[in-house]
Amino acid sequence: MELNIYPTKNEVAIEFCIFLAEWLKDKKSVHIALSGGSTPKIIFEELSIPGKYAINWKEVHLYWGDERCVPPDDDQSNYKMTKDFLLDNIDIPEDNIHRILGENDPREEAHRYGQELQRNLPVQDGIPKFDMVLLGMGEDGHTASVFPYEIHLWDSDQNCELAVHPDSGQKRITITGRIINHSKNVVFLVTGAAKKEKVAEILGKKSNYKQYPAALVRPQDGNLYWFLDEEAASGIRNLNSGS
Ligand code: 6PG
Repeated sequence: MELNIYPTKNEVAIEFCIFLAEWLKDKKSVHIALSGGSTPKIIFEELSIPGKYAINWKEVHLYWGDERCVPPDDDQSNYKMTKDFLLDNIDIPEDNIHRILGENDPREEAHRYGQELQRNLPVQDGIPKFDMVLLGMGEDGHTASVFPYEIHLWDSDQNCELAVHPDSGQKRITITGRIINHSKNVVFLVTGAAKKEKVAEILGKKSNYKQYPAALVRPQDGNLYWFLDEEAASGIRNLNSGS
């Protein structure tokens, strides 16, 4: 597990974009699962700066780790956020964009998207393997759309599941632990003071930390990276300093 801590959210975004561009160099047909959330949004804006990152998007296939069950033009849609802040600004073939169809019946779409992953991605031991999965983490320790109260979804034998947001009741489609922990690279993008307790509990393996889905992210034979700002990492710093 590689921990990368930078002073501000913007510096996290810049450093991750540099990391991503370097990692993508000369790669062919790469499959990446994107995340929703505020940190990915500033990363997409950074990636959209003309000429700043030499990424050949023709070799990149974009998927989503989770999606709200809303139409693609709904402000709640992770796809819409990605389209507004990234897709409309880069030269990526339409066929390389594999959105979760939030407008479909949720249970049917969970199955359909799971099959799309099975069909499009390289498969090892019967499980689709992403080259990279980007993840955020909620203040409650959720990741993708696996929430603590539905943590059983993490161990589903399905590629995707239907989840329900604990507060809003909003239905969501999410990839499961089976997919995430089978990926070649998993990158947590976590910023802001609101996350510091959970980051400290999870990275410090404090008691009961496995109640949080984000704590269950452990790619079997892949790399795990955390990109944090100082605020989100402040709890770890105390841990390290032994204070
Ligand atoms: C979503 C995301 C979700 C997000 C976390 C963190 O659909 O909302 O996939 O899992 O990553 O809620 O969001 P922030 O980065 O905005 O705090």
